[in-house]
Amino acid sequence: MSVEDVIARTMGLPPTARSLCSDLRRLGVEPCMTLLVHCSLSALGWVVGGAHAVVLALEDALGPDGTLVMPAHNYGFYSPRVWKNQPVPKEWFQVIEDELPPFDPDLTPTTQMGAVAECFRRQKGTLRSAHPILSVAARGPNAEAITAPESLTDTHGEGSPMARLYELGAWVLLLGVRHDRNTSLHLAERRAKYRPKQYVKRRFLVEQDGEREWLEYVDVHGDSSDFEKLGGEFAAETGLVKTGKVGYADAMLFPQREIVDFGVFWMERHRR
Ligand SMILES: CC(C)(COP(=O)(O)OP(=O)(O)OC[C@H]1O[C@@H](n2cnc3c(N)ncnc32)[C@H](O)[C@@H]1OP(=O)(O)O)[C@@H](O)C(=O)NCCC(=O)NCCS
Repeated sequence: MSVEDVIARTMGLPPTARSLCSDLRRLGVEPCMTLLVHCSLSALGWVVGGAHAVVLALEDALGPDGTLVMPAHNYGFYSPRVWKNQPVPKEWFQVIEDELPPFDPDLTPTTQMGAVAECFRRQKGTLRSAHPILSVAARGPNAEAITAPESLTDTHGEGSPMARLYELGAWVLLLGVRHDRNTSLHLAERRAKYRPKQYVKRRFLVEQDGEREWLEYVDVHGDSSDFEKLGGEFAAETGLVKTGKVGYADAMLFPQREIVDFGVFWMERHRR
């Protein structure tokens, strides 16, 4: 959406860090929570101060004892041999694999995570986990535990930040986005026992002690196509989803452990 369109659909006064913080509190965000946020900035309406103000609003709502977490993925470290959406000539594969600069938590931008996640991961003092593709950014008392070294190959599974958030009893906030962005459901997907599970080849660059290695393995194929249906049934059956407006965006707040457990149960019934 162009910024002109965002301004046009902001019918009253524009949201500010202060008004967004009040909206978040009204929705149910409380100090001390560990909160995983997935956000579309444009859905909030035209925010005074943009992404920066949204980060401040979230941090203010959580207070100093809360922990803010956002995905900081970058899909650019997969090998071109497994790229699907950005095909390049085969003759380029080798030069890309030879020359791709390794992941650097400070320098590597996020991709497809949105302006708010990118702003947050750059904030001084925010920690970022070391997975070259699926890192998360976190800030607050639980940030170190959430971003500690993780399994490189059990993507979103045990030993991943998603499993750590589960152990911590975290909450998930969808701000202007739907359950297809609800990364925690990929943890449920790993835990659920259903057949046939789809698998996919992964190949990405890791650097350890200055040595480059292209790590190749077979992983569960993340499929978010039924996450919206799952999320709707979770809300209807448990009543655990708090909904409301934050700025102009539809927002959903719910406990991560409960939706992951529900997701395991739901996938075992529906994915076959
Ligand atoms: C993909 C996604 C980020 C797109 O959302 P978006 O609102 O279009 O994009 P951003 O959040 O990056 O915000 C940038 C847009 O905000 C708008 N904008 C600019 N200034 C603004 C302001 N002050 N206030 C509000 N919006 C503003 C612009 O339209 C801008 O778009 P542009 O960069 O094309 O000009 C979002 O849909 C999403 O999926 N977010 C969650 C990602 C995630 O957590 N994924 C989990 C792994 S699957």
